[in-house]
Amino acid sequence: MGGGAEMSLVAEHESALVAAAYAAAEKAYAPYSNYPVGAALLFDDGAVITGCNVENASYGLALCAETVAVAKAFEAGRRGGLVAVAVVGLKAGDEPITPCGRCRQVLNEVAALGGTDPLVLCVGQEQVRQVPLSTLLPHAFGPSNLEG
Ligand code: THU
Repeated sequence: MGGGAEMSLVAEHESALVAAAYAAAEKAYAPYSNYPVGAALLFDDGAVITGCNVENASYGLALCAETVAVAKAFEAGRRGGLVAVAVVGLKAGDEPITPCGRCRQVLNEVAALGGTDPLVLCVGQEQVRQVPLSTLLPHAFGPSNLEG
């Protein structure tokens, strides 16, 4: 759960992780909101998996960047080991962007599977706010709740 080794892994990869999230945001398909978002997931072996938001003419069907990244991670065989997540918005202002409620829950699934509490790097123009997922989503519902 966010031990020292994981924390230094995050520090070591922080700038590359934020850069990967920005690169993903550049690929966003966000013609309706004009609010491109990128996310980058860091795993305990140093792998990074990114996502961008993908909107739809039926506005409510937009896929968030974090959710796309998590879907790609599962498809790549990841089932835990999530140590950090960077989230950036190209149109975000000074206030760092934070994952929406649904994305917090989606991120919690891969975190819970590996028993980690990933550090979420919420990027703003002037600062990066680092918040553990468990702070963004306290008392989360997860896989263990279904164990009976
Ligand atoms: N969005 C994300 O991709 N992630 C978030 O956590 C917040 C919102 C996207 C959804 C939509 O395409 C656009 O940002 C505006 O809400």
